Amino acid sequence: MATRHLALAASVLAICMVLTRATKPGFVARITVKGLDYARQEGIAALQKELAKLKLPDFSGSFKVKVLGKVRYTFYSLNLRSFQLPSSQIALIPNVGLKVSIANAFAQLTGKWKVKKRFLWLYNLFHKKIESSFRRTMEGKVCEAVTSFVTTKLQPYLQTLPVTAKIDKVAGIDYSLVAPPTATAQSLDVNLKGEFFSLAHRSAVPFAPPIMAFPVDHDRMVYFAASSYFFNTAGFVYHTAGVLLFEITDAMIPKEFKFHLNTSTFSAFIPQLEKMYPDKLMKLRIKTSSPPFLTIAPGNLSLTPVVDIQAYVILPNSSFVPIFLLSVTSSVSVKLMVTSAEIGGTLELGRLQLSLKHSDVGPFSVQLLQALMNFYGSSILIPRINALLREGFPLPLPARVQLSNLVIQPRQNFLLFGADVRYI
Ligand SMILES: *[C@@H]1O[C@H](CO)[C@@H](O)[C@H](O)[C@H]1NC(C)=O
Ligand SMILES: *[C@@H]1O[C@H](CO)[C@@H](O)[C@H](O)[C@H]1NC(C)=O
Ligand SMILES: *[C@@H]1O[C@H](CO)[C@@H](O)[C@H](O)[C@H]1NC(C)=O
Repeated sequence: MATRHLALAASVLAICMVLTRATKPGFVARITVKGLDYARQEGIAALQKELAKLKLPDFSGSFKVKVLGKVRYTFYSLNLRSFQLPSSQIALIPNVGLKVSIANAFAQLTGKWKVKKRFLWLYNLFHKKIESSFRRTMEGKVCEAVTSFVTTKLQPYLQTLPVTAKIDKVAGIDYSLVAPPTATAQSLDVNLKGEFFSLAHRSAVPFAPPIMAFPVDHDRMVYFAASSYFFNTAGFVYHTAGVLLFEITDAMIPKEFKFHLNTSTFSAFIPQLEKMYPDKLMKLRIKTSSPPFLTIAPGNLSLTPVVDIQAYVILPNSSFVPIFLLSVTSSVSVKLMVTSAEIGGTLELGRLQLSLKHSDVGPFSVQLLQALMNFYGSSILIPRINALLREGFPLPLPARVQLSNLVIQPRQNFLLFGADVRYI
């Protein structure tokens, strides 16, 4: 029985990516040296586990010895006890990409070997020859295992990165690469399209991604830059699909609230309603009249939606009679939140500015409706929209990756957030 500790030099993998001119991205994912280091540790740990499962078959060979002639040897009962890849590296090569190298793999194994000719005292003389044959066989095995790990585990895993993520019945997000990743000495930038699109019929977006000046922050493993383009393509798609539409009915208004949605409430501001439609319930239908546009600036995210509010009276036979149509603008401040895998937000409504587009009940002072509409907007509509926004949109993360230690900063034209990554 011979127990051998063998040091094996294994394969070197090199993955190079070439820089080319890029279309402007709507979304950038930046992996810092700290992030690559973590990826390397996790990858190597997984590879070591994989290699430790390596089955080594019995094998035999022969070599010639002067005087004695051919000597046959056999290895059997081989058992790999541990496998270490202590000097793997991921290096960033500016303007080129990423180089992954795995060198100096150490395997510890036990096994038995025997030599066909009976002269036991000569074993030590053959030692070198047997070991080099053994080493070659092991190198072959390790290369095979590394290659198979890359093709069966690593590549399918990277394919779990969502290229397009379906969000709901209306829209998806396109996270495809717009250019090969670009490397500097500190980070690898992955430039993604970052564009919402309609699932029913994709059409060109009538505006372009802005320039994003990525700051030089490196204390988190990854950084994401979501440009205003990313959010505004969302607004464009949902508006075009006609789904940015909300209805407020009296049933949504809590019992204890003073201002119920009926003609008695409204006749304080539109006196003729009391005579025309006494004691009738009403309904408000709110719809964007142009795509909502998010402006992102340092320390400030704001939205200035323009919506139409159509008011109806509900008749006893359940038919709706239109009574007036308002155009409303407001500044809405936006708080964006990033959770472990999603980006969501909440809105806060500023003061509304109303103008009358059409009246079916004769003239009235729109300004008097201001407070009432503000009330319906901020206490009924916005909480409902926030509940939807809180569900969030999926971030471009591969499977089993979670974010922690988040930092968020609005920058000029984009939202920057950094995070550490945990592979679970
Ligand atoms: C209309 O709303 C007022 C409060 O704004 C309420 O007192 C009244 O009962 C409501 N009428 C109907 C028909 O719901
Ligand atoms: C935030 O942006 C809005 C709209 O662009 C602007 O009116 C407002 O003054 C800004 N606020 C700050 C604090 O910069
Ligand atoms: C509902 O009632 C109104 C007024 O009484 C009438 O004009 C309208 O045709 C009715 N609608 C339906 C669907 O019965």
